[in-house]
Amino acid sequence: MQELLITGGRRLSGEITIGGAKNAVLPILAASLISGGVTIIENAPRLTDVESSLEILRTLGCEAGWSQGNLYIDSKNASRCRIPASLTGKMRSSVIFLGALLARFGSAVISAPGGCELGARPVDIHLRAMKALGASVYELAGDIYAACETPQGGFISLPFPSVGATENAMILAASAKGVTVIKNAAREPEIRDLADYLRAIGAGVYGAGTSNITVSGRENFNKEVVHRVIPDRIEAATYMACVCAAGGSASLKGVREDDMRSVLEVFRAMGAEIKTSGDELAIAVNGRLRSPGSIITAPFPGFPTDAQPPVCAALSTCVGTTEIAETIFENRFSYAPELRKMGGNIKVTGTLAVIQGVEMLSGERVCARDLRGGAALMVAALGAEGKSRISGLEHIKRGYADPEGALKALGAEVLLIQ
Ligand code: EPZ
Repeated sequence: MQELLITGGRRLSGEITIGGAKNAVLPILAASLISGGVTIIENAPRLTDVESSLEILRTLGCEAGWSQGNLYIDSKNASRCRIPASLTGKMRSSVIFLGALLARFGSAVISAPGGCELGARPVDIHLRAMKALGASVYELAGDIYAACETPQGGFISLPFPSVGATENAMILAASAKGVTVIKNAAREPEIRDLADYLRAIGAGVYGAGTSNITVSGRENFNKEVVHRVIPDRIEAATYMACVCAAGGSASLKGVREDDMRSVLEVFRAMGAEIKTSGDELAIAVNGRLRSPGSIITAPFPGFPTDAQPPVCAALSTCVGTTEIAETIFENRFSYAPELRKMGGNIKVTGTLAVIQGVEMLSGERVCARDLRGGAALMVAALGAEGKSRISGLEHIKRGYADPEGALKALGAEVLLIQ
């Protein structure tokens, strides 16, 4: 099990390029099933969740892998519609394949995609959306069984702007007869990226990025598509939080300011100096930062839940007290006990955390238990006196391609322990 050894207490200075967005490439990989042709994805991040998706695509009968630095998928020979538990265990968000399997094969069996460290993560909204397009869907002991002979365009009203359910609905609607309207759709940038891909294969998708998306389905799709994935706004936010914790400066290349407004607002309220020019962002932190007061996570364009853990770690050494209300997942402060081990003063009551800033954290042996909680520990280690040893690096690598390399490029003292 790999670990990161980080020596904190040093100001950062360096430059990194932000990679492609994990939460954009995963639904596009699923959607690549429906065209029956070739999809080439540029700017795809080398993440374990991407490798898990490739494994699922190969299990379904696709050719799927890396070619000259891009992802290459040929779904011509796809022939199986079942994702076994051995793969859904690796890839929690395997439910993202539901719409694509129904679109391509008219049936789907997904073994126990269910809850993970963040909470129950039910799939009821996904199933409701599939039924609205004509599918019969059953859950049995956590497994999903679905069938949909001929998807029909319909009206879907989501009770919550679920990102995954919006994506499943868009993908199935892309191959449904007629027009589908999705009300209360998720508005995340990753939804717009999926819409761009679906339009590239020939579906008509309008209104992505707003709460109302209209999709007109196609029977046959373009058989050769090249798509470039948008940058990862959460990766960018994480490395900005590293600079906030350690002090210093950094230049991030390949970011999209419009995707990060709520996060930039918080970093600026903390006292970080942030300048943007095109797809470059410069952040400088001199002296101790201050609390922004309170943070409430919310669906886009609100403050993203995925940025909550790393930003919370940076707040641990700010002046003042911050209240964080986590409104998306019921268990997203799992990293709090590890932060307390490092001297952090964080009290968690249900989905509310109160962080009282301390002068300095102290290096410790800590354990990452989930992806963004692990990112929080990297941030905390950079703002701590002495060395920290972070185990559970496999969680972090689900969402960050090369955390050791990125931190080194920012001037941090990091050692990968095999
Ligand atoms: C996506 O998860 C992202 N994952 C998550 O990123 C992100 O945190 C989340 O959206 C919110 O932005 C991917 O895109 C692969 P949701 P998803 O459906 O689609 C409840 C990361 O760290 N819900 O918007 O699963 C659910 O329990 C990951 O990169 C239902 O109740 O998120 C949660 O409380 C973590 N029923 C809330 O909605 C459903 O059928 C938001 O979930 C579906 C969801």
